[in-house]
Amino acid sequence: MLSFPNLLSHVALAVAYASATSASPVLPDTVVKYSTHATREVGEGVSVESFYPPGIYKTFDDGADVFTGGTATIQQAAIAFIQSEVGVDADNIQITTTSDSDVHKVAYARQKLNNIPVANAVAHVAFNNASRVVAFGSSFIRSAKVASPEPSVEIENAIKTAEGTMKGTHEDSFPCPALEYWIQKDGSAALSHVFQVRNQTAGTWYEAFVDAHSGELVSVTDFVAHATYRVLPIWKQYPTEGFEVLVDPHDKIASPRGWHDAGLTRTLGNNAISFRDSMGNTAPQSADNLTFVYDYDFGVPPDYGNSANLHFAEVNAFYIVNTLHDITYRYGFTENSYNFQDDNFGRGGDLGADRVMVSVQDSNGSNNANFATPPDGQNPLMRLFPFIVYNVSQPQRDPAIENDLIVHEFGHGVSNRLTGGGSGRCLQTLEARSLGEGWSDALAEWTEQKSADIKDYFLEEWLGNYPGRWRTYPYSTSTATNPLMYSSGTTVQQEEHYIGEIWANMLHNVYAALVGEHGFSDTALTNPDENEGNVVYMHLFIDSLSIQPCNPTFVAARDAWIQADVNRYSGANKCLFWKAFASRGLGTNAQDFKDDFSVPTGC
Ligand SMILES: *[C@@H]1O[C@H](CO)[C@@H](O)[C@H](O)[C@H]1NC(C)=O
Ligand SMILES: *[C@@H]1O[C@H](CO)[C@@H](O)[C@H](O)[C@H]1NC(C)=O
Ligand SMILES: *[C@@H]1O[C@H](CO)[C@@H](O)[C@H](O)[C@H]1NC(C)=O
Ligand SMILES: *[C@@H]1O[C@H](CO)[C@@H](O)[C@H](O)[C@H]1NC(C)=O
Ligand SMILES: *[C@@H]1O[C@H](CO)[C@@H](O)[C@H](O)[C@H]1NC(C)=O
Ligand SMILES: [Zn+2]
Repeated sequence: MLSFPNLLSHVALAVAYASATSASPVLPDTVVKYSTHATREVGEGVSVESFYPPGIYKTFDDGADVFTGGTATIQQAAIAFIQSEVGVDADNIQITTTSDSDVHKVAYARQKLNNIPVANAVAHVAFNNASRVVAFGSSFIRSAKVASPEPSVEIENAIKTAEGTMKGTHEDSFPCPALEYWIQKDGSAALSHVFQVRNQTAGTWYEAFVDAHSGELVSVTDFVAHATYRVLPIWKQYPTEGFEVLVDPHDKIASPRGWHDAGLTRTLGNNAISFRDSMGNTAPQSADNLTFVYDYDFGVPPDYGNSANLHFAEVNAFYIVNTLHDITYRYGFTENSYNFQDDNFGRGGDLGADRVMVSVQDSNGSNNANFATPPDGQNPLMRLFPFIVYNVSQPQRDPAIENDLIVHEFGHGVSNRLTGGGSGRCLQTLEARSLGEGWSDALAEWTEQKSADIKDYFLEEWLGNYPGRWRTYPYSTSTATNPLMYSSGTTVQQEEHYIGEIWANMLHNVYAALVGEHGFSDTALTNPDENEGNVVYMHLFIDSLSIQPCNPTFVAARDAWIQADVNRYSGANKCLFWKAFASRGLGTNAQDFKDDFSVPTGC
């Protein structure tokens, strides 16, 4: 029981406010659509415009008192206050919920008509710790026309209609359908059957309001939150290419609940969590609707302190890792093949609890990045260290804003989980680890090639501060630009990144041949169902990893690639692949890093 002191002077104040604003008038002609309407596409070509009556909102500084004639519960006090403000009978005010914190308590209410709740006529009263009203909001209405409270359309028929229109189903596990009024923009109150409709494949989850007299859909509630991020889009390599604001970049099939689970409003979700050093240091949303729009100041270098740019970096890393989850998911790195997710939605055989942890501006190192891939069911960890003093002319730079590096690191997770069925043990030999570096570079290149006009590809120029800092040659079909052959494996430095360049360059040649033959799809990042060269390439990239042996050699990786083409495309590209591999010395008789340029007979 709260105690609400009876202070008449403040009641007078409250009443004065009430007469000034009264209840929200029914539909002024000047209704601003922006704040009162929501238009949503539900199902194919069906658009529903929902109306929300205009509201009033007032705050009271140190607080206004409520006259209740004595002590009262928060519910009673709220009803008394709403009554005094909007002139609605206490019988027509229903308290729905209350909440409290250390500094305030809030009661939430809705209006009733004919003893039936009105879904879109709501109010709330907030009290401070001295039980004085500090805020009041209301969209209560005085409706002119109230439909009969007895439905004339059966609930079963309403559900059937909505399921067809909204392309989803009402499931038994949902709350039972209810009857509520919905205020429409002409001021009338439509009696509605209210129930949920969902489609897990399409990633939709709605609440439908179907007119219980006309059978029409009068409104929908969309439970899927929209999210906004300011980032370097995945198709851009370097921050110098320009940041952009992206709305809802998630793939609805790969991430049916979006990238933030319900209630999580930080860089934390089912596929990834990005933070600085400890899991508690995630980036918060910058506005209360899953907006993550932060500025990046190039004048402030990344450091081990609380950098001004930290949240931007966390958001970009979160966005890239989630995007890669979604892209690789569509091409086959799913719950059935040991991908990285906290919850698998019951969709496949592997273990959950292994979303990617991304440590940004990690304080335990410098000038590097890495990715650890433990077995299925354990979280992988990507660590991005600041690039700092390396060379007097090296500016300090943050790898979390250079996409090719993040893609490269995530690529290690993909190749390590797919090879050998999720054990994390199958890219361990020098040769296999080198192939791993190659796949990672190749994945980065694939996300950034933009057209059928294939560019030579250089990695990490911005972080390195000049081309060729981290890789010896650009990846190229020209042997003058990139002379690496299979046999270079014995002449380059015996280290996985150097040997890996040979494989990445072979894959560049495979990619160029495929795009030359089948063209380029602009939508390959989100649509795996086309037949252009870059789409075919990513299918075989993912397919081949799962069917190659543990600790593969160059020869085995080539054979797995060509077999993957048989499995998916009946070997349509067999000779094209042999020619591409053979052009770099990995022909039919290649063995032990001795070049062979031959191709099978018939090619
Ligand atoms: C109420 O909140 C105010 C402002 O935060 C604080 O100064 C005061 O101590 C609180 N009073 C009680 C009784 O908690
Ligand atoms: C759910 O969505 C998918 C993909 O958009 C569609 O193919 C399917 O027919 C939908 N299910 C229902 C019940 O409408
Ligand atoms: C960095 O090192 C400290 C102490 O050595 C450790 O507590 C912390 O967990 C490390 N951070 C990461 C991301 O490993
Ligand atoms: C989120 O809120 C911000 C600030 O109020 C606003 O500018 C933005 O349009 C909103 N975004 C969406 C998707 O509603
Ligand atoms: C230092 O950086 C400059 C240009 O940024 C480059 O020309 C030079 O080779 C670098 N030196 C070393 C030792 O990396
Ligand atoms: Zn690597």
